[in-house]
Amino acid sequence: PNEPPVVFHWLPVFGSAAGYGNDPLNFFFKCREKYGDVFTFVLLGRRITVALGTKGNNFVLGGKSIVFNAEDAYTHLTTPVFGKDVVYDVPNEVFMEQKKFVKVGLSTDNLRAYVGMIEEEVEEFLRADPAFSVFQSNDVNKWGQFDALTVLQAITILTASKTLQGKEVREGLDKSFAEIYNDLDGGFTPLNFMFPNLPLPSYRKRDIAHKKISDFYVNIIRQRRNGTTTDHEHDMIAALMQQNYRNGRPLKDHEIAHIMIALLMAGQHTSSATGSWALLHIAERPDIGEALYQEQVKYFSNPDGTLRSMTYEELRQLPVMDSIIRETLRMHPPIHSIMRYVRDDMPIPATLAAPGKDTTYVVPKGHYVLASPLVSQLDPQIWPDAEKWEPTRWSDPDGVAAQAYNTYEDAQGEKIDYGFGAVSKGTESPYQPFGAGKHRCIGEQFAYLQLGTIIATIIRNMEVKIDRVPDHNYHTMITLPKNPRHISYRRRKL
Ligand code: HEM
Repeated sequence: PNEPPVVFHWLPVFGSAAGYGNDPLNFFFKCREKYGDVFTFVLLGRRITVALGTKGNNFVLGGKSIVFNAEDAYTHLTTPVFGKDVVYDVPNEVFMEQKKFVKVGLSTDNLRAYVGMIEEEVEEFLRADPAFSVFQSNDVNKWGQFDALTVLQAITILTASKTLQGKEVREGLDKSFAEIYNDLDGGFTPLNFMFPNLPLPSYRKRDIAHKKISDFYVNIIRQRRNGTTTDHEHDMIAALMQQNYRNGRPLKDHEIAHIMIALLMAGQHTSSATGSWALLHIAERPDIGEALYQEQVKYFSNPDGTLRSMTYEELRQLPVMDSIIRETLRMHPPIHSIMRYVRDDMPIPATLAAPGKDTTYVVPKGHYVLASPLVSQLDPQIWPDAEKWEPTRWSDPDGVAAQAYNTYEDAQGEKIDYGFGAVSKGTESPYQPFGAGKHRCIGEQFAYLQLGTIIATIIRNMEVKIDRVPDHNYHTMITLPKNPRHISYRRRKL
């Protein structure tokens, strides 16, 4: 059978590692010009077949999980970090059950309880304190500076702990948890993806940190079972402790612990990256920053001019906020490459590989397939002014953006009550920051709530500006803004 064209490279094993690793977007667009929507590149000995465009997204993300397999692609990276018996360390059917358990914890009831908690946590973080805070001054006439990513990373983990992760984790953050978390995080890099085990300090630290964090959660669970600690009705640990697998077995303590680690990792980088990109863009576009602030004033003003808290329902209906988050995720989806391992030869539909021609390619068993929503989200053929961050594109009812955005039925066959947030419809949409198909994200509503509340609270407190939004750093698992990324801020008059 006919294999897809292979991207030219000089070094047999190394392949296109540099081109892909340094700038996947540019690499994909260049290859697409030369080879079309389907091609294979070599990455340190692995053969990766890329399928671009909406049909490519559909081919990879709509594929059957027994043929295009996520566990085989990700387990080397994730299992040492998350731990055994969850996510990609178990057969897909089991993980799908675990995803359902997590969904129970992400109930609307819980999300509703989180808005105020997140707001409080952010207010606390922004409070001026010369000894502890990045935000030294309350002077409304003075401009200061902060690093967008550092601040968003701190706020993201604080707010996720306070809400989803639970009181004990939030308290741990002020103590030893933060440091252990950093060691664990150091084991979640592209190097770990390529080489599951190297004799490097970072790998050893990762393993030690995993054990410590896992024990930390198991301890929390035990204390809760013993009734030593109470008052956590809305968090994820509480939800997971009440679930049973289809065969009636409840989750074991270590399974709960490992799911909690997985959620911490899944949410932390994606949300903090998205939040910093959003804030950087807002800082570069004072018109949008002002529109966002005025939206807050319009909906949440008290008679005395102060602003009151938002409810979850209200947050879901803020057009300016909504379009800012969607547009940020269009240009900066945190995950640029979604991969699957090919367990069996798989023919590529001719409409994808060679439209109009009669060429049929086969992706052979042993390859990886790769979908990149980043490419379809920045495709100039699809999006007018694709390179421009322009939230207003989302309010044109006839625009591509509005069409890409739609309701969606998830892999478990449940209709999700979307209606806000960045939603992509099914596997063939050009807009898929949360993926599509069976492995689609279940953290979207939480992420939106977290981001919306964080951004609103920051904008209520300060004006922000920056000359230029930084470039992408593609050397991390999650696409981050490069240094320098200092935002200037000034407190608002109350
Ligand atoms: C899956 C993006 C936040 C939990 C995914 C996938 C993407 C994604 C692209 C699909 C991966 C694949 O198909 O291989 C994002 C973005 C986020 C975000 C852009 C924030 C802006 C979160 C949060 C949580 C979470 C906050 C947890 C609370 C998950 C889970 C999966 C997933 C459990 C399923 C993985 C699978 O089925 O294989 N996410 N995510 N995500 N995400 Fe998120």
